[in-house]
Amino acid sequence: MSNNRVVSGMRPTGKLHLGHFHGVLDNWLKLQNEYECFFFAADWHSLTTEYADTSGIRESTREMVLDWLAFGLDPKKCTIFEQSLVPHHSELNLILGMITPVSWLERNPTYKEMQDNLEHKDLSTFGFLGYPVLMAADIIIYKATRVPVGHDQLPHLEITREIARRFNHLYGQVFPEPEALLTETPKLTGLDGRKMSKSYGNSIYLSDTAEDTRKKIMTMITDTQRVRRADPGEPDRCIAFNLHRLYVSQERLDMIVPACRGAEIGCVECKKILAESVVEGLAPFRARREELAARPELVSDVLSDGSKRAQEESGTTLAEVRAALKF
Ligand code: TRP
Ligand code: SF4
Repeated sequence: MSNNRVVSGMRPTGKLHLGHFHGVLDNWLKLQNEYECFFFAADWHSLTTEYADTSGIRESTREMVLDWLAFGLDPKKCTIFEQSLVPHHSELNLILGMITPVSWLERNPTYKEMQDNLEHKDLSTFGFLGYPVLMAADIIIYKATRVPVGHDQLPHLEITREIARRFNHLYGQVFPEPEALLTETPKLTGLDGRKMSKSYGNSIYLSDTAEDTRKKIMTMITDTQRVRRADPGEPDRCIAFNLHRLYVSQERLDMIVPACRGAEIGCVECKKILAESVVEGLAPFRARREELAARPELVSDVLSDGSKRAQEESGTTLAEVRAALKF
């Protein structure tokens, strides 16, 4: 079991925002050079919450994968695929479902949490309860050893490990127990100071125009304790400054910080500097996205090639699984 395989998925929720960019994706980008990586669009997982209206999933998948490619995920370096194009995941999901105690799933903290957060949706389904089982199948079908995830996914990964262990215990050693590669994400808040999220409408998208980006940044909350222009500000309390840290040059930061504390610079002026830095920083990415978007077959070609590769790999594991089960 000395392979070093990385598997990670993202639910297609549409265009990606800067929170994804500076969290998950820059990590994936590094990993594709260091490991054998499988990255996929978890469209079946979207179905667990979107089953009543599936109309957006296809387009969301396309937009998301376009962002991945524009950002630099390279189908020559890693396998990029779509979950539903690799039906092996679902066969393993079924088998793992047979050995997974319901109590493990009911105990899953994100289960109750999501049900409470999405009160308007009926999530009392078999599939939603089984979300972590499908996720376990996604991971162990490639015998992954590492799974880059954020903190919120740790309980799911723990269930994956328990399921793998139980399978090995019942049928003999087939699966390694994958470890989380925790993604250290820089603090990136939305325009209003809450977590950047599509559902809050407070996000800057990679696919926004330069003009939209400038407008959004000018509405960003700064230091709420700085009421008047003459009041001294504090960058460490300033919401916008989280973005400054990522996009404004150190040289300029060294000027801004004392100027803010000494009330020598106003927030409007300061955010103009920020806006220009962000627009400039994103320009190459945006140019590339536009270029790629003009190739209508690109995303479907990448996904269909990647899914074929994924199908081969997952098929090999599944043959071992059937043998282990004496089928
Ligand atoms: N549950 C993950 C999320 O919401 C998405 C996901 C599905 C995933 N299958 C996976 C992540 C396998 C890592 C590995 O972010
Ligand atoms: Fe934030 Fe800049 Fe305003 Fe200071 S001057 S509070 S760093 S926006």
